[in-house]
This record gives sequence, C-alpha cells and structure tokens, in this order.
Amino acid sequence: MTDDPLVIFTPSGRRGRVAPGTTVLQAARALGVDLDSVCGGRGICSKCQVAPAVGSFPKHGVTTGPEALSEWNAVEARYEEKRGLKPGRRLGCQARILADALLDVPPESQVHKQVVRKDAAHRLIDMDPAVRLYLVEVDEADMHEPRGDLQRLQEALRMAWGVENASMPLPVLARLQSVLRKESGQITCLVHQGASGATATILDIWPGYAEPRLLGLAVDLGSTTIAGHLCDLVTGEVVASAGVMNPQIRFGEDLMSRVSYAMMNETGAAEMTASVRDALETLAAEIASEAGAQASEIVETVFVCNPVMHHLLLGIDPVELGQAPFALATSDATHLPAGAMVAGLHPQAQAYLLPCIAGHVGADAAAVALSEEPGAQERLTLIVDVGTNAEILLGDTSRVLACSSPTGPAFEGAQISSGQRAAPGAIERIRIDPETKVPRFRVIGSELWSDEPGFVEDAGAITGICGSGIIEAVAEMRMAGIVDSAGLIGSPEQTGTERCVPEGRTHSYVIHDGREDGGPLISVTQGDIRAIQLAKSALYAGARLLMDEMGVDRVERVVLAGAFGAHISPKHAMVIGMIPDVALEDVTSAGNAAGTGARIALLNKAARRQVEEQVRQITKVETAIEPRFQEHFVAANAMPHAVDPFTLLRAEVPLPDVSFNTRGSDQEGGGGRRRRRRT
Ligand code: FES
Repeated sequence: MTDDPLVIFTPSGRRGRVAPGTTVLQAARALGVDLDSVCGGRGICSKCQVAPAVGSFPKHGVTTGPEALSEWNAVEARYEEKRGLKPGRRLGCQARILADALLDVPPESQVHKQVVRKDAAHRLIDMDPAVRLYLVEVDEADMHEPRGDLQRLQEALRMAWGVENASMPLPVLARLQSVLRKESGQITCLVHQGASGATATILDIWPGYAEPRLLGLAVDLGSTTIAGHLCDLVTGEVVASAGVMNPQIRFGEDLMSRVSYAMMNETGAAEMTASVRDALETLAAEIASEAGAQASEIVETVFVCNPVMHHLLLGIDPVELGQAPFALATSDATHLPAGAMVAGLHPQAQAYLLPCIAGHVGADAAAVALSEEPGAQERLTLIVDVGTNAEILLGDTSRVLACSSPTGPAFEGAQISSGQRAAPGAIERIRIDPETKVPRFRVIGSELWSDEPGFVEDAGAITGICGSGIIEAVAEMRMAGIVDSAGLIGSPEQTGTERCVPEGRTHSYVIHDGREDGGPLISVTQGDIRAIQLAKSALYAGARLLMDEMGVDRVERVVLAGAFGAHISPKHAMVIGMIPDVALEDVTSAGNAAGTGARIALLNKAARRQVEEQVRQITKVETAIEPRFQEHFVAANAMPHAVDPFTLLRAEVPLPDVSFNTRGSDQEGGGGRRRRRRT
C-alpha cells in the first residue's frame, strides 16, 4: 500500500495508483486506458483531453478535490487561447496527477470510440481505422551518421509509436526532405496499416503538426446501383451518402448478360471496367462535394460487390464466372492502391476489397455476414439481401451457409411496366380494399395516403411504382382476390371491378390513372406479376436450397436486407412467397447490410481479419448447378407457394381461394401449365 494517488478513468473504470506528478496521458497508457494522442504529448493535438470530476463518488470509492491535478500550465493556456478548450477540460499530456483523481475520457478523446450504426439494430462499430496520424521529431542529419532522412523518420516512428518498417511511396519520398526541413524535423505522418502487424505505409506527410481531414469511402457496388458512404475516419461519422446507377446496365441488366458481353466482345470486359471506374470517380467527387470536401481527401476505400463486379472492378475478365466451376481469379481479400481503380482520390489512397465466398457468392455476401453475424445467432436465421442478385445466408451458432440467386432487377422496379427507382413521386405503399377493390396508396415524399385530404397538393406528381411498392401491390392484389395463387389477374367479371382492364389475352389492374392531367396510367400488368413471380421464385428457391442443406423445413427468423430491404413490408413479402413462412414479428429489416459491412471494414481493421476468417467457415451452395434449384423454383412460382403450406401466414392474413384460369392452361400467366392452383 502506498500513498500514491489513486486515479480512476471513466467510462472504462480502469484504476490504479501512480507516482505523484505522473501526467494523465502517462497514467492512461500505464493503465491501458484508451486516450488518444497524435502529437505524442507535445501539447499540440488536443486529442488527449480529459474532464476531471470533483466531489465525493461513493460508487468509485473516491473523493476528489481541485488539487487532484496540477495547475493549468502555459501549454494549456496557449492552446486555450489559440483554439479553445471546452469548459472543464484539461490536456492529458500536460496535467499531472497530484492527488486522488476521477477523470472522464470523452468519446472524442478515445482512439477506439464506438460509432452507432444507423440501421435498425443500432449496434456499435469500434473505431480502429487502418489510417492514423502520428507526429514525430526526426533527428537532424549528421555527417558522421550517414543514414538517410527516411531511415531516421522510420526510426522515430518506431521509437515513439511502435510503427515498424514503415515504407514510403516514391512520390512522398520525393517531398520528404523539404517537408522535414520546414519545421526542423517535426513532421506529421499519415500511416496506413491494413491490419495489425501488416506492413505500414506512409501515405502523406506535413511539416510540423497537421490535422488534415481524413475521409474514407465505403462502396457497395451492385449490379444496378452503386451506393457510397463517406465516413470521417477520425470520428467514424457518415458525412455523406450517395448512390449512382451502375452504367454497366447498358451492357446487360443482369450479371450473366454482362459475362456474355465479355465473352462475345474482345474489348467487352475492358469497356465494362472503364465504365464502372468512371462512375466511381463521379460518385467520389459528388459525395465529397456533398460533404464540403474534395475527393482528394479520401485516403481509404472499401468495396463490397458480387464476384462479377469484383472482377470487372479489378480489371479481370469475368468469363470464367459464367460457367462451372465458376473459378474466381482470387477469392481472398485484396489490398491495393485505390488509384488503380478510382481516379481523383488522394494520390496514395488505399483500397480494400472484402473476400469473395465463392464463384457466385461475393464480397457483398461476406459483408452481409460481417454486418449481420449469422454465425452468432442462437435462432436459425435466414438473411436475404435483396437486389438484382440476391445474397442469401442461413445460419446459427452451429453453421453458416450462403448462396446467391439471380433474381433480376424486378424488385428494384426495373422490368415493371410502371416501375421506377425509389424517388419522390413513386408509389411505395399500397392497400386495396378487399370489398370494393379500390386502392389507396402513398408516394415517396408525402406522409399522406391518397384518400386523405390534401394528398394531391402534398404528393405532387405521381410517376410510377418503386420496388417496395410493386411487392405490396402484388400482395394486396392477392389478398383482395384480384390475382389468384397462380399469378393470374382476373377479368372485371371475375373480380367484380372495372379496374381490371383487358390487355390482349390478359388483364391489368389500374392503380392510378393520371392521364386526364397529363400524368401516367399506373397499373400492374400480367407481365409485371410474371416478373415478380420469377424474381421471388429465385429468391425462395435459393433459401429452400440452404434449408435443405441445413436439413430443416423452417427457419426461426428472417432478416430482410438490401438497399430497399428496410422498406419491404414483411407481411407483403410473405404473401407473395418471397420469404419462408415465419411469425411476422420474427421478420426484421437490416437496411443495407452489405453497405454496413463495408463501413465496418472501413472503420475497423480487425473486422477485416474477422470477415476473412468467417468466409473460410461458410459453406457455399452453388444454385446454378444444384438440380433441386429448378424444382424449388417451379414450386415457388405460386403465391405464396404451391407446396409449402404457409400456415403461420394464413392464420394472420386472408388469402382468397380464387382461380382465374378458365382455359385450363395459361401461357402468359404465372401458373404455367398447372390446371389447378393450390392454396
Ligand atoms: S497528446 Fe497531443 S495535446 Fe496532448
């Protein structure tokens, strides 16, 4: 027992006795407290701020007074004068512990602070980015000691910060001597270390102490859309988000048509690589300007994408992914200079591509696994990332399985007659009265339903139906008896509504007719139902394959993910048979899980190791070569399903027992040649 002062840090609760006169920063380091410092205790960076508490704290068993810390010193006074310190704060590298102290470390002073994820689960991400700033003092050049400036800088980084063997790209090395001489050897280095223990690279240098803005870009590169989140790599905050269409659509809407384009055209793969790289350059510039920054401030990027996009982004011909055995050029995570793929970023910006799970199951599925952690779930959980290519994971603590399924772009509103992207004016919610068959709806940009006063003024132009809207429309039509389980829309006589209008040999259901005012006629056609049936059958068949592999007939939870996963109504998704039958309260939304996974990998380098390890444990199922896929696909064509009973759903939702197949066979409807629908 000594009389040394007791110091307690909150929120960590770490405590210990230190010799009187120890600085708060030294005490924090000795006790393993996460207290930041860029300048190494020189009183320049202010990252080491703490808030001392004065009073009696029975919970901590300590009473503290104003004498706990040394008096405000000249360095703090200078800092306060120049930049200002928040009231009650002290610089941890200046204040010395003289008596028992209780010191709070505010979030901004923690290196490994936690960032709240902006998704339904509101989980936290621990900040541990691959880039960090370090201030060092480099010994002056000495004629008798012939080491170069870089070697002396490397030594200083090693001694002061434990950064070993930091390499320096030539363009940075070319500036090193002039930068070093400006502030007599004091230099701020931006160091990149992709994983702990990985080689360190000095990406940039500034004379003296510098606090450049450090931005990172997490990109979910989908077949149809490219979504980016720009993050502050110090605070972890998302400072801007933006999306652009993937310009490769002009080479083919789905992945296989893009692979065919590469097969048929000698320069096909190169054209697609150039187009996606152009789009990324535009996205980076736009998203940076939205945050009031320059793309050149982006020092790190993380990409998640399916295998075809992964190869095209890297400039690798994806033809081998078009046929068995679907060989990936590389399945491991890839680290490379970002400039090889995206122009306009910081000249030394780095890129990290998550690993691919298999030839059909990409880094996007890996990112979903990182974000949703199926292997940590007690209950058997099915995670469906809905997009042009659906990523499907099924797992619990015993095992995780993954596959992808080619759903096509129908769920994103493409290939739908009145379909459009989710934008103001798009119908996103719809309800159909089962008696009158009259619809009411809501459009993006207005909180009002179409039958509420003020809707017309508030909603503005009604332009089409987005992905979540078409799912609801088809499901509501099924619940209202306008479409039968085989997917056939009934005639006016069969359904009792004039909203069902003939269109050739089939019928369409009119949701909104704006033609009198120069607007569009928005209806659901037989072709739309067919497109949705194909998409949902592919999704369901993929999920069923995983359930077969797991040896189960039921799952306990379903998580809907994807850019618009959060907007899909679980009930409606189940009515059309997009997801298996579970209690509605067990269906949750995870938002853009692949994008979140990308953001986690951007902000936390340990998560990169974690996902690389996870991917090795996942069992891959290739839908393309599984004979049962076709069988499941056909059975899943009916709504909700031809064989699976959907008892939980039927207990909650009426599904009228109607059949509109009067000819006994329907080539254009969704039911194929089956004479009888099953309900
Ligand atoms: S460590 Fe930089 S100001 Fe204290």
